Amino acid sequence: MRTPIIAGNWKMHKTVSEAVETCRVLDQLVQDSNVEVVVCPPFTALSALSALGMSKVKLGAQNMCTEVSGAYTGEISVSMLRDVGCQYVIIGHSERRELFGETDEMVNTKTLLALKHDLLPIVCVGETLTQRKAGETESLVVGQIEKAFANLSCEQAQKVVVAYEPIWAIGTGETASSVEANAVIVTIRQTLDRLYGTDVAQQIQIQYGGSVKPANIGELMEQSDIDGALVGGASLLPEDFAAIVHYHR
Ligand code: PGA
Repeated sequence: MRTPIIAGNWKMHKTVSEAVETCRVLDQLVQDSNVEVVVCPPFTALSALSALGMSKVKLGAQNMCTEVSGAYTGEISVSMLRDVGCQYVIIGHSERRELFGETDEMVNTKTLLALKHDLLPIVCVGETLTQRKAGETESLVVGQIEKAFANLSCEQAQKVVVAYEPIWAIGTGETASSVEANAVIVTIRQTLDRLYGTDVAQQIQIQYGGSVKPANIGELMEQSDIDGALVGGASLLPEDFAAIVHYHR
């Protein structure tokens, strides 16, 4: 069966020393969990967190460049992320798509590039409130999945983590109900089934993201197809994040 994966997206928060202190505490708190735990700090903290030698918590980045190297001022490459000990990278977060013009094509390029360099992509998809109200959620999300997975082999596809994050639920305190979230995630899995077959689709971990808190994680994880969470605000405090990781207690 699929191992649950809980990832924290710190966004643009925490200095290096704050990040180190948070991870020191967090790694202790989640030691005994059998869930995969990932923290995605700002780029500047990656190297110090890698040097901490955490035994349970894995490191991820929040973004990477579509190019391997070259004249791309301000960008960070896939090999730089591998070099500082990253195992995961978030790709196509809605904030990247909405605020920085990231397209489905860029998401696909980055996903292929990450996989080629043994970095595991956490590919984000999700609809706006307007799209949800217009009844477009499923078609939009299916389209985002098809484009993100374009040209990925079965072997590559099964390494991808998908994060379904309804944009209206991010940082707003509004969560999709666990049943609503699961319904979209089932549609995502059906799409992956159509593209890659049942064996692959059943292996792919699909997270829910959007105002996940210690109080609502239990209900979300009880759903048939939700395999974890991508957590923003509630991943900043180690105690809160650990409470989410320990959802089954
Ligand atoms: P939130 O963010 O948990 O603060 O809603 C989730 C995300 O953006 O991944």
